[in-house]
Amino acid sequence: MEFLYLDEVDSTNLYGKRNLEKLEDKTVIVAGSQTAGRGRLNRSWLDLGEGNLYVSIILKPASIFDEKFANLTQYLSLVICKLIESYGLKPEIKWPNDVLINGKKIAGILSETVMQGNNFKGLVLGFGINISAKQEDVQKVVDKQATSLSIELGKQVDGTEFLKRLINLFFQDYNKFLERGFEFIKHEYLLRANFLDKEICVKGFNNTQTGIAKSVTDNGALILEKDNERFVLTIGDIL
Ligand code: BTN
Repeated sequence: MEFLYLDEVDSTNLYGKRNLEKLEDKTVIVAGSQTAGRGRLNRSWLDLGEGNLYVSIILKPASIFDEKFANLTQYLSLVICKLIESYGLKPEIKWPNDVLINGKKIAGILSETVMQGNNFKGLVLGFGINISAKQEDVQKVVDKQATSLSIELGKQVDGTEFLKRLINLFFQDYNKFLERGFEFIKHEYLLRANFLDKEICVKGFNNTQTGIAKSVTDNGALILEKDNERFVLTIGDIL
């Protein structure tokens, strides 16, 4: 796999989408800073300064889109958790793919699919991880509480080293994940889920649904229960 380093870019995801044709499968685009970082559900992703990770992985797993590709964000959230655990911390997953420590967000993931007409061209799997942000930096994130690896550990962490380990871990089981899909990671994902059996409110693009989070399906969708009825949500954000 190749690493492509950019000092500054609008967004590594946008860069990946613009250049998808010429970028090889498994290229890892890393930016020193982003001026227009993108988040899920049309939000933005704030640049918290140098030493944090702004990364997109170009993936061209097949010439036809497969539903399992949509779960790669959940696979990546689990990989990020496992790596953070190796630093002695206890990260959790907020459905579908936010990584939190003590309820504060440390990593966000945004996957974008590139199509040309009806043809699937590839995926840009973007993620931001707060590595070296200080307390005054994470306070700039106003919509939710955030933290960083160095805040949690009380010491500096080498982002480049962290990224290398992350990419190795990601590709270790990547092929198995592509064969089996979410079911392959369901058990380990649920072990880290912080939303089970809680009354939650899930915001989609234009609706909000409340209920008790019961589990996730074999496809990674959220199962909510309300008034003895079950709802399955495939997209949204737990408020
Ligand atoms: C979210 O939690 O809403 C997803 C945030 C994803 C942010 C990353 S930073 C690198 C990549 N480029 C972007 O513009 N967004 C993703």
